Amino acid sequence: MASSLPIHAMIVHFPIALLFFSVILDAVGFIRRRSDLQQAGYYSLLAGAIGGLLAIVTGFVAARAMEIDRINLLREVVKSTGGKGVLPEFADLAMRTLEVHTVFSIYATGVFLALLLWRGTHREQLRGLSLTAYLAGAVLASLLLVRTGFLGGQLGHDFKPKFQNHLEQIQKSSVGMDRGAGVGKTGE
Ligand code: HEM
Repeated sequence: MASSLPIHAMIVHFPIALLFFSVILDAVGFIRRRSDLQQAGYYSLLAGAIGGLLAIVTGFVAARAMEIDRINLLREVVKSTGGKGVLPEFADLAMRTLEVHTVFSIYATGVFLALLLWRGTHREQLRGLSLTAYLAGAVLASLLLVRTGFLGGQLGHDFKPKFQNHLEQIQKSSVGMDRGAGVGKTGE
């Protein structure tokens, strides 16, 4: 297994929590015209967007580790079957899930960054059509973030352990076969 500190899995929960929190604070703040909540929403959005950028950077490191796991698995499959075996179906599915996770995470962070820029450059109160557009953008970004988190969960809690278990199984069975061959030889 590609061993690395799970930094991505450790930090992703901060942007997820902060960004959702910012949308809730903003929605309540704008609807009730509470400038304190709007300000808290802005700072939560700022911290969440920075966290989102960090999640993207660490995500590329985690993705590299998963690609290495896939290559190691392929190597073991080829070795244990004399070149006849194929990778289990989940390995390709994991890579497709990773691609979609990456794209959704970049879109989600991009929309949140655009909202941050909008807030930063429009110091006056959002109201009317601009408020509706802003809140619609916040809902869109939240939906993208939900999908990102869901796919990330699949990668971390389903595919990642599958790579590990499969690799261990193959290694165990090759050791078993080697031992079996060894016993046969000594018995000759
Ligand atoms: C806003 C940005 C992102 C968010 C919020 C996010 C969220 C998540 C979450 C919630 C998990 C599950 C963590 C766990 O195991 O508990 C995860 C895992 C993962 N994510 Fe992301 N992600 C983001 C960006 C990216 C990017 C850009 C990539 C790849 C280029 C990526 C690659 C991965 C990989 C490979 C895993 C599997 C678990 C691991 O090795 O850490 N993520 N992500």
